[in-house]
Amino acid sequence: MKVAVVGSTGMVGQVMLKVLEERNFPVTELIPVASEKSVGKKVKYKQKEFTIVSMKDAIAAKPDIAIFSAGGSTSLEFAPLFAEAGVTVIDNSSAWRMDPDKKLVVPEINADVLTKEDKIIANPNCSTIQLVMVLGPLNKKYDLKRVVVSTYQSVTGTGKAAVDQLNGEISGNETEKVYPYQIFKNALPHCDVFADDDYTKEEIKLMKEPKKILGDDTFNLTATAVRVPVQGGHSESVNIEFENEFELDEVRKILSETPGVVVMDDVKNNHYPMPLYSEGKDEVFVGRIRRDLSQPKTLNLWIVADNLRKGAATNAVQIAEYLVANNLV
Ligand SMILES: NC(=O)c1ccc[n+]([C@@H]2O[C@H](COP(=O)([O-])OP(=O)(O)OC[C@H]3O[C@@H](n4cnc5c(N)ncnc54)[C@H](OP(=O)(O)O)[C@@H]3O)[C@@H](O)[C@H]2O)c1
Repeated sequence: MKVAVVGSTGMVGQVMLKVLEERNFPVTELIPVASEKSVGKKVKYKQKEFTIVSMKDAIAAKPDIAIFSAGGSTSLEFAPLFAEAGVTVIDNSSAWRMDPDKKLVVPEINADVLTKEDKIIANPNCSTIQLVMVLGPLNKKYDLKRVVVSTYQSVTGTGKAAVDQLNGEISGNETEKVYPYQIFKNALPHCDVFADDDYTKEEIKLMKEPKKILGDDTFNLTATAVRVPVQGGHSESVNIEFENEFELDEVRKILSETPGVVVMDDVKNNHYPMPLYSEGKDEVFVGRIRRDLSQPKTLNLWIVADNLRKGAATNAVQIAEYLVANNLV
């Protein structure tokens, strides 16, 4: 496969290169792309240096697959140009996720929706991916009625400038402010920009994307997204009301048998998922599994994953792997 990595210098792009290498994706030619200011610079892949090229040169090179992690406006402008040239685009931005003509895919849940005709495939929001990895198998068994999610999102979720802001605030050095307030020693109930209805765009993504991925709009979902001074790994406190009764042991069994999900739930030994533990790992970790004592058929749990891995790069590479394995590219 000739593979273009668009946004190869960014937080996600750098992890993308690492994940392609680790999973031994069959790359015969790597085409790293970034903004004009980075053209000519080098990125490393498999201990070799590769020169960053422009979008125009990348399209002319006709890759088989282009994995985009370069922001929504870049995707809106360039993904169709790659697609017109016959390239299959896997896009990490929010540009195409809710487009009714585009598939939104978490391979463990709905890879079977993909066809050869899909030329722009959307990778869901990082907070959505870890959420649906847990909601999916539980929905099948108990039927979701209502989900309330509160997120604790790390600064790598905003990109490299946000990591610089946090590190600058820790060390006392002035840096560009990506967030409207200091993030060090703080918690901002504000991820992405506010929309007209006073929800943030991150919250709206969390409320809409799971229904599309699960192919089920019969349940309600509400979200509050919070940025915390954690370097990497998003956490979520999730309250789930089902239509049907459940047993806690069965919930743990279902989740522990779900590919890509790891149950860490032994509170007697202080065993529960944390962002520090999730860093660099591909799995989605779930713990603090307990009944909501305030009403029946309702569960509380805590989900953690590395937002740059399963929340972005790993999920995108898994989509690419599925396309290759099923001759869809
Ligand atoms: N961070 C996460 O956890 C996460 C998770 C899921 C999805 N995403 C999405 O992934 C995308 C990238 O996020 P990030 O966190 O990696 O951001 P980032 O660290 O700021 O990196 C942005 C990347 O995009 C490139 N870029 C910017 N404008 C471009 C243009 N006009 N043409 C080509 N390349 C351009 C940048 O290149 P230069 O270095 O040349 O500026 C850089 O490589 C975003 O759409 C984001 O929403 C992020």
